[in-house]
Amino acid sequence: MGLRPKPDWLGADRELEQELKEVERRILHQASLFDPGAETYVRYALEGGGKRLRPALVLLAGKVAGGWSEAIRDLAVIVELVHVASLIHDDVLDRADLRRSRATCNAKWGVELSVLLGDALFAHGLQLATKLENAEVARKIAEASRNLCEGEILQTQRRFDLKMSTADYLHVVGLKTGALFRVAAEVPFLVYGAAEVKREAARSFGQQLGVAYQIYDDCLDLFGTDEESGKTLGTDLRKGKWTLPVLHALQTLPKDESEKLRTQLVGENGVEGVADKVKEAGGLKFALRKAVDLLERAKGDLKVLGEGREAGKLTQMTERLQDYLRTASDE
Ligand code: FPP
Ligand code: MG
Repeated sequence: MGLRPKPDWLGADRELEQELKEVERRILHQASLFDPGAETYVRYALEGGGKRLRPALVLLAGKVAGGWSEAIRDLAVIVELVHVASLIHDDVLDRADLRRSRATCNAKWGVELSVLLGDALFAHGLQLATKLENAEVARKIAEASRNLCEGEILQTQRRFDLKMSTADYLHVVGLKTGALFRVAAEVPFLVYGAAEVKREAARSFGQQLGVAYQIYDDCLDLFGTDEESGKTLGTDLRKGKWTLPVLHALQTLPKDESEKLRTQLVGENGVEGVADKVKEAGGLKFALRKAVDLLERAKGDLKVLGEGREAGKLTQMTERLQDYLRTASDE
């Protein structure tokens, strides 16, 4: 009962692929700016690759906002640095051993080094942001970074809390993932001094895209496999993180079955069989459909950004994701 990983976000776009290669080169270059003693760790963290979704979003939004420039490329690098830093810390919190098909920093070097490495990368990202001409950009990046941490604080605070509602979940996810997607989509418009109505549309688009992505990622944690996804899955239930499919099952199962599931979730006999129960209760389908709905609303925001070819690429990307999620929800 797997969930196919890796939806094809970007499709075949040679121009974007080329530009992403240049951004990748710049991301890796950052390692050489650190003290030689720290460089090896930074290089390992940055070489992990990954989907580079946030830089791609900066580039796509940047093209709509006014074109690819040094500021847009720098922005793509900065957003990815904050993301990589947050994942290093996240793997400490989740005690995960595998990320992007390699050992996590935590598994390789332990908690102390990983916390410091995440801090160093985060600080480096903010330092780069302060070099951009418009000071508002750095403020936006700092705000989104704070939101990420707030999301993680709320998530940690609500662990094993069976009173958690769907709205609570969406609030946490909006902070921990929505915020960085939001900033990736909005800030290119800030760089080009776009009208507030466009900035707001881009902001809302990014936020909803991010939430939809996290819903999918949470489904992957419950229904995917480590081998296919390249990361340690199944940590959410063990850590008492109730994600959307689980919350839906708890809220919609007949009272006695819901009670049994609650008892198992907080009990000490393990979570075996929970994923099957959640799927039977329609939790996976519900969550994936919710993500599709959010993407529909995100597409509505894109209309404000114009009808041109470049805005069309953002729409196509959103539709590719919707197709993937619809197919997965019918399987
Ligand atoms: C992945 O969540 C984690 C995040 C989206 C954000 C994590 C943020 C922090 C730990 C705060 C630290 C932030 C900074 C700026 C240093 P997940 O565990 O649901 O996803 P996964 O399956 O990819 O691990
Ligand atoms: Mg994690």
